Amino acid sequence: MSDTVLTLEHVSKNFGAITAADDINIEVGQTEFFALLGPSGSGKTTMLRMIAGLETPDTGRIVIGGTDVTRLPPYKRGIGMVFQDFLLFPHKTVAENITFPLKMQRSSDTEKAEHLQWVVNLVHLEGLEDRYPHQLSGGQKQRVALARGLVSRPSLLLLDEPLANLDRELRKEMEVEIRRFQLELGIPFVYVTHNQEEALTMSDRMAIMRDGKMEQVGEKFSLYHNPTSQFVASFLGSPNVFSGRVSAVDGEIATLDWHGHAIQARAHGGLKPGDAATCYVKSEKIAIETDAGEMSGEIRDVIFKGQYADFLVLLDNGEEVTVSSSHRGQLVKGAKTHIIWKPENADGFPAGE
Ligand SMILES: Nc1ncnc2c1ncn2[C@@H]1O[C@H](COP(=O)(O)OP(=O)(O)O)[C@@H](O)[C@H]1O
Ligand SMILES: [Mg+2]
Repeated sequence: MSDTVLTLEHVSKNFGAITAADDINIEVGQTEFFALLGPSGSGKTTMLRMIAGLETPDTGRIVIGGTDVTRLPPYKRGIGMVFQDFLLFPHKTVAENITFPLKMQRSSDTEKAEHLQWVVNLVHLEGLEDRYPHQLSGGQKQRVALARGLVSRPSLLLLDEPLANLDRELRKEMEVEIRRFQLELGIPFVYVTHNQEEALTMSDRMAIMRDGKMEQVGEKFSLYHNPTSQFVASFLGSPNVFSGRVSAVDGEIATLDWHGHAIQARAHGGLKPGDAATCYVKSEKIAIETDAGEMSGEIRDVIFKGQYADFLVLLDNGEEVTVSSSHRGQLVKGAKTHIIWKPENADGFPAGE
C-alpha cells in the first residue's frame, strides 16, 4: 500500500498462558476505515492498546507514518483514542473534557481555543461547551468523547466499541456520523467492535479476530460474500447451516447429500467425496419461488421485517430453511414453494473445524 499510515508486523502478545495477539500483520491506508471485528476475548482491545502504546508487544513492530513507534510512549505517537465507556471527567465541563489531551501536551491557550472550536463544529456540540457530563444525553456524551479523541488532530484515531452503550436508534445515527467524520478528516480510523452490523456499515476493510489471530482480512464485501473459513462464514450475516456428506466435487463446487437432497456449495478446506461437511448459505442468497427450484416445501411462517420478510420454509426432507426476501403476494403461511440457490452463493467446509 503506497499511502500506508499504520503497519503492524508480526506483532504478538501473551498474558501468561493466554495469547492475546498471535503474529498479527496489518496495514491501514491514509483514508481507510478499518474495523477489527470479533467476539469478546478475541484480542481486539489488546491490539488497539498496543497501537496506542498502552501495552507493549512481546515481539514485532508497529510503524505509524513511517516511524517505528513500538517503544514510544502513547503521547509521542500522534494518535487519538475513544473508549467504550466515554471516561468523561464528571466535574469538568464539556470544553475542559475535550481539551484535556491538549492540557497534557501543554498547548497554549490560543491553540486550545482554536482546536476546541474546530472540533466542536465538526462533531456538532456548539453551545454545549459549558455543560457538565450529567447534563448531556448519551449521544452528546459520545460526541464529547469523539471530540476529545480528535482535538489534538491525530494522524490516526482508534475507537474501542464506542457505541456499545448506546441504544439502537442512537447507534444507527452515530454509525453514519462517525463514518462522515472519518471521510471529512481524511485520516484512518481503526474501529473495534463485536457488532457485525456496525463493522459492515462503517468500514472499508476489516479483520475478523479469533483467539488472538486474524482469521480473515479484506474488503468488507469480500469477507461477507467470500468467507474462507467456517468461523467467518458463521460470524457474518445470519446463515442457514446444513450438515451433509460430500457426494461429488467438480472443480470449485461440491455436491452434498443433505437428508436426501443434493445441495451444492463452494468447496473449502480440500473437501472430497465421502467427507462430512458443513454448508453455510445466507438467507438472502436463497431464491424463493412458487413453482420452480430444486427443493420443495411449505411456508411455515412469514416474519415481516419492513423492507423484507423472513420466510421459514419446511422442506419435504423435514429440514427448515430461512429465506429473506422482499417477495410478497402468494407467499403466505401454508403456501407450497420451491427454493434454490446458486452453488457459488453457498460455502461448504469440512465438518467440525
Ligand atoms: N492485562 C491483562 N492481563 C491478563 N489477561 C489479559 C489482559 N488483557 C487482556 N487479557 C486477555 O487477553 C484476551 C484478549 O482480551 P481483549 O484484547 O480484551 O479481547 P477483546 O477486546 O476482543 O474482548 C482475553 O482472554 C483477556 O482475558
Ligand atoms: Mg475489548
